[in-house]
Amino acid sequence: MQSSYLAHGKVILIGEHSVVYGYNALSMPIQSLNIKTTVSLNQTPEYYMDTDRYHGDFFEAPAEYNGLKYILKHFLNLIANPPYLKIKYTGLIPIERGLGSSATVSLGTTKALNDFFQLNLSEEEIMNITNFAETINHGKASGLDSATVNSDDLVFFNKNTGIEYLKQKLNAYLLIMDTGDLGNTKEAVQLVKALIASSTLAKAAIERLGLLTDNVKNAWLKNDAATVGKLMTQAQACLKTLQVSTPKIDQLTKLAINTGAYGAKLSGGGLGGIVIALCPDQKTAQKIAQNAGILISNYWIEEV
Ligand code: PMV
Repeated sequence: MQSSYLAHGKVILIGEHSVVYGYNALSMPIQSLNIKTTVSLNQTPEYYMDTDRYHGDFFEAPAEYNGLKYILKHFLNLIANPPYLKIKYTGLIPIERGLGSSATVSLGTTKALNDFFQLNLSEEEIMNITNFAETINHGKASGLDSATVNSDDLVFFNKNTGIEYLKQKLNAYLLIMDTGDLGNTKEAVQLVKALIASSTLAKAAIERLGLLTDNVKNAWLKNDAATVGKLMTQAQACLKTLQVSTPKIDQLTKLAINTGAYGAKLSGGGLGGIVIALCPDQKTAQKIAQNAGILISNYWIEEV
């Protein structure tokens, strides 16, 4: 008896950080980056976690797994005399890069346990559990990551008014470059919060990010990739004002634009993680990745 769920990663195209303050954000599922969660009965009397980085008692796993511990505990409380389980995670999404690794495993664990125990929880209940785990992981999480890893379409997200799914394609390619540097989302969100409290410039950057996001949506719906790219680069300037960019991210965004990208920016919490560049074609994306050389540890090219 076992249940599995395959959940994919994501990138935020625009609107990170401002989304926490009630502005819109646009994000995209990345199907090629995914993690499969498999729940099965454990013959030995313990709840066992099996990931590429930790194998052992689920509830004694390091603090980074606290969100998952909450999810398992939540399900065990719903079941009378729950059996011992083994929960295995296969596949790899690099952590703390803005690729949605924590939301992916949170959603996967929730859906696989729901299936295993045949609870038939509603989609809303599943998202509430996943989002609560994300709040444990990231502090004040907007819900954007969970919504995107649970979607096959582009997600236009507002934490107050909800989600709009966009099917419109853009005539462009997205290059995702991994700086290889860890970017802690919780730390980034707290840093921005403190900055906004003391700086009108930071407050203005958040407002501008909201405006740029709405403009990106309009350009996207008109299939105007050049404008989308330009707006992404403007968003990067705002994220720099919010102090979540790094010298390497700045260098990569400049390199991408100088090599022919429509635009480039960090994606996710920042302080490390990934840089995304919107490119007119695959060849340009390849060339940028090649020119980035040792500045990046990995890259992916996605049709958008
Ligand atoms: O670093 P990521 O991919 O988890 O994205 C964080 C996005 C923020 O807007 C910074 C935080 C949030 O909860 O939306």
